[in-house]
Amino acid sequence: MRTRTGPVIGLLHPGEMGSAVGRCLAASGRTVLWASQGRGPRTAERARSCGLHDVGTAAAMAGQADVIFSVCPPHAALDVAGSVRGFRGTYVDANAISPQTARDVAAIVAGGGASYADGGIVGPPPATAGSTRLYLSGPAAASVLSLFDGSLLDARLVQGDIGSASAVKMAYAAWTKGSAALLLAVRALAEAEGVSDVLLAEWELSQPGLLGRVRGAAESAAAKGWRWTGEMAEIAATMGAAGLPPGFHLAAAEIFRQYERTPPAGTD
Ligand SMILES: NC(=O)c1ccc[n+]([C@@H]2O[C@H](COP(=O)([O-])OP(=O)(O)OC[C@H]3O[C@@H](n4cnc5c(N)ncnc54)[C@H](OP(=O)(O)O)[C@@H]3O)[C@@H](O)[C@H]2O)c1
Repeated sequence: MRTRTGPVIGLLHPGEMGSAVGRCLAASGRTVLWASQGRGPRTAERARSCGLHDVGTAAAMAGQADVIFSVCPPHAALDVAGSVRGFRGTYVDANAISPQTARDVAAIVAGGGASYADGGIVGPPPATAGSTRLYLSGPAAASVLSLFDGSLLDARLVQGDIGSASAVKMAYAAWTKGSAALLLAVRALAEAEGVSDVLLAEWELSQPGLLGRVRGAAESAAAKGWRWTGEMAEIAATMGAAGLPPGFHLAAAEIFRQYERTPPAGTD
């Protein structure tokens, strides 16, 4: 259903990152669809504020969109791909998933006749130019890249095949979120042993910047730790598949598991 403004885009789902990607794609006048079924009030509000059009269900989106982006919690990536089974356009998975999960997603959508681009996003939801990269690989990557010409999201091709862009994201987050989990574990250890004040004072003396990192890690984990458990499991699987120890990130998943998702204001 290509229109005068180019391909119709579908977005599953307009979370913090997905809505920002949707805003970038809609900025040039393109139609961007979303599917409200099963989603909560915060997602609906983000979709409204970004000017996305509600088509109700993922199945309806599959019938109307030319390109569908999956931007969802990593643990939901396979289910989301399954929700558009039969889609025959271009499917882009931009989630923090392992190269093997990316290949599994590709197999699901290819089974219904879609082409696939593997994606990985590094940086915050893009609000200014230069903050955020979308790495892309695989057969449909080049066609997806051009959708972001002139937008706030810096799309870049990664040499390789399906899984290469996901590998970039896995390696990047293995350090950023893995080291955040390690800092949270170390701080919890000092608290458990009753030496927290001494450790924090020592860090201030000998590890400049670390106190700020611990505070930042705690704040980010409180907001998004529920989603990072799945991401750490994907990184552990990526490590294991490369013959490296998966244990660092299995432990990181344990650390983030204690952070529950906060319900939206006004809900139970
Ligand atoms: N946020 C960032 O700074 C950032 C940075 C880089 C990469 N990313 C990547 O972007 C992806 C999404 O992150 P986000 O920050 O946009 O997450 P988010 O704000 O938590 O939004 C997730 C979206 O997915 C929906 N969702 C939640 N659980 C789901 C499920 N089980 N099945 C289907 N949909 C579900 C949510 O809808 P409801 O809440 O309405 O149910 C929401 O619309 C992740 O793969 C992440 O790694 C994010």
